[in-house]
Amino acid sequence: MASPADRNSSMRTTRPIRIDVTSERGTYPVLIGAGLTRSPRAALKDLGLPEHALVVSAPAIWKLHGTPWESVAGKRGPVLIADGERAKTLATVSRLYDAFSENALDRAATIVALGGGVIGDITGFAAATYLRGLTVIQAPTTLLAQVDSAIGGKTGVNLPSGKNLVGAFHSPSAVLCDPEVLGSLPRREFRSGLYEVIKYGVIAAPALLETVERESRAIFDRQANVLTPLIAECCRIKASVVMADERESGPRRALNFGHTIGHALEAITRYRRFRCRKECRLLSDSALPCLNR
Ligand SMILES: NC(=O)c1ccc[n+]([C@@H]2O[C@H](COP(=O)([O-])OP(=O)(O)OC[C@H]3O[C@@H](n4cnc5c(N)ncnc54)[C@H](O)[C@@H]3O)[C@@H](O)[C@H]2O)c1
Repeated sequence: MASPADRNSSMRTTRPIRIDVTSERGTYPVLIGAGLTRSPRAALKDLGLPEHALVVSAPAIWKLHGTPWESVAGKRGPVLIADGERAKTLATVSRLYDAFSENALDRAATIVALGGGVIGDITGFAAATYLRGLTVIQAPTTLLAQVDSAIGGKTGVNLPSGKNLVGAFHSPSAVLCDPEVLGSLPRREFRSGLYEVIKYGVIAAPALLETVERESRAIFDRQANVLTPLIAECCRIKASVVMADERESGPRRALNFGHTIGHALEAITRYRRFRCRKECRLLSDSALPCLNR
């Protein structure tokens, strides 16, 4: 956990904050920095990763944030799939397998998941299972994905009978979190990610709750100098939990706080009405009135 001094210095610096996560597949970096994905090729090169990859995204996300990734995707362009919870199906995974095959990907191929948790989970699962495992880089574009889903290697899709019932553990080779891309996130989605920040406050770091309350205006204004250390703090907590229990046999279950009721509500309403994080929402809206902005 970073000291307060570290946190202040990370707020001043423009260099990305780096957190290394050790997994069964090796150690991978999580980088958090404003503007990091303005030049993704340079970021990948700095990490010693391939500068060219098959980029998977959703049409709306690509329109907003795809331009810098064009040079990574190259002539073949991105593979665009629907996102949102209802698209998180085996049929979408099958579409990705077709795209991987049409592009003649071999085991040396690298896939980039550019999007929210849904794109990250679907793409991660397709990468985990195609040719028994391709390299995947997560480039999360929602607050939820930056603080939670992009880290830890859990990938998967829903079945009609329930959420995330099919999946695999498949760690990424890097996670590139750029708080600047959160500027275009609809308010509802931003708040949804903030509930995950609150979750970390409740399960591991009460000081985070104070930060959210104190900095709520700057957070809702999406100020990168405030979001960067906040996201980094969450990533540090997630990293330490998944390193202690990668396969979720014990302590990692704490990360599911708030999901039990939420997942059930989502599934029985066929992913049309509710988004998860119900318990966190009930808890935080009453305990932290600043969230009702
Ligand atoms: N793998 C894990 O460990 C883990 C952990 C938590 C949650 N999850 C999964 O994450 C998923 C939820 O992810 P989510 O909340 O990111 O939702 P999401 O991926 O559905 O994205 C929400 C919406 O925001 C849009 N969007 C994404 N980035 C944007 C941007 N920068 N600007 C404007 N719009 C943007 C998307 O197009 C989508 O419509 C769930 O399926 C959940 O199961 C996985």
